[in-house]
Amino acid sequence: MPNDFILAGVMGWPISQSRSPILHNYWINKYKLNGRYVPLAVRPERLTDAIRGLPALGFRGCNLTMPHKQMAMTMVDSLTDTAKRIGAVNCIVVGDDGKMSGTNNDGNGYVLSVQEVVPSWKPDTGPIAILGAGGAARAIIVAMLERGAKEIRLINRTYEKAEQLAKDFGAAIKPMRWEKRAGAIADVALLTNATNQGMTGKPPLDISLDKLSKQTIVSDLIYVPPETPFLAAARGRGNVTVNGLGMLLHQARPAFQAWFGVMPEITPDLRAAVMATFKS
Ligand SMILES: NC(=O)c1ccc[n+]([C@@H]2O[C@H](COP(=O)([O-])OP(=O)(O)OC[C@H]3O[C@@H](n4cnc5c(N)ncnc54)[C@H](OP(=O)(O)O)[C@@H]3O)[C@@H](O)[C@H]2O)c1
Repeated sequence: MPNDFILAGVMGWPISQSRSPILHNYWINKYKLNGRYVPLAVRPERLTDAIRGLPALGFRGCNLTMPHKQMAMTMVDSLTDTAKRIGAVNCIVVGDDGKMSGTNNDGNGYVLSVQEVVPSWKPDTGPIAILGAGGAARAIIVAMLERGAKEIRLINRTYEKAEQLAKDFGAAIKPMRWEKRAGAIADVALLTNATNQGMTGKPPLDISLDKLSKQTIVSDLIYVPPETPFLAAARGRGNVTVNGLGMLLHQARPAFQAWFGVMPEITPDLRAAVMATFKS
């Protein structure tokens, strides 16, 4: 008998912090689909077995979160160009033939989240400054370059990591020293915090916004808390701000479509359902 129950999930270690089950199951209910999206606690040493088991278990695919995004690269049958450029996979789609394709929707989700708030902004609107040079910075850099960004000032505490990304991605990336950050952000069209500073449990991002243009769009990849001290300071001085929840929601849409066959909508109710899980 054919199995029309659609399964997808998210692999991570730990996994209980992931909000992906909340949002995908919200959409499954909203669109009255027959399926379930499940959290999968997978130890790093079991990742190969877990991924290779997806087709046999009848999964249409899965998301990958910390610490599996890089390791999963070698465990799928094919990779999209975007996943190759980023060097990480956040989404696996199992084809009808059981073959697994790895992609990465994080960077695209980020760009769409900024455009949701400022529809006229494009990555080539003007210089961009990114604080941080980890995995998330890499994903958003690839998406911005794919959409025509001409100048990305990459400001990282460990300068060598910013330099390495400039080597990987070319002349549009301008590595800059952390000590120069207050001046380096002054005239940018978009400023992004891609460090972990300001997350619940971490100190606030240490940066002065005194020189920043009031026209700069200020974004933070963090969504716990929904407004970091950095975003609150930017909003307080009149800048438009974008938090990290939109990135999470927008990266999820194409994955949901690939597995469940419906392109889902991001609605205020969905945002509220996800944010409610952060209240104690
Ligand atoms: N909204 C979303 O959907 C989404 C998706 C992915 C990630 N994120 C968020 O993005 C952020 C970065 O994630 P990631 O995966 O890129 O992490 P990561 O690879 O661990 O990189 C962390 C970055 O933070 C910097 N950093 C750490 N402590 C610092 C400090 N005291 N001062 C200045 N910089 C510091 C690191 O600089 P060094 O190189 O000097 O160590 C590095 O650039 C996290 O807050 C994460 O939650 C959000």
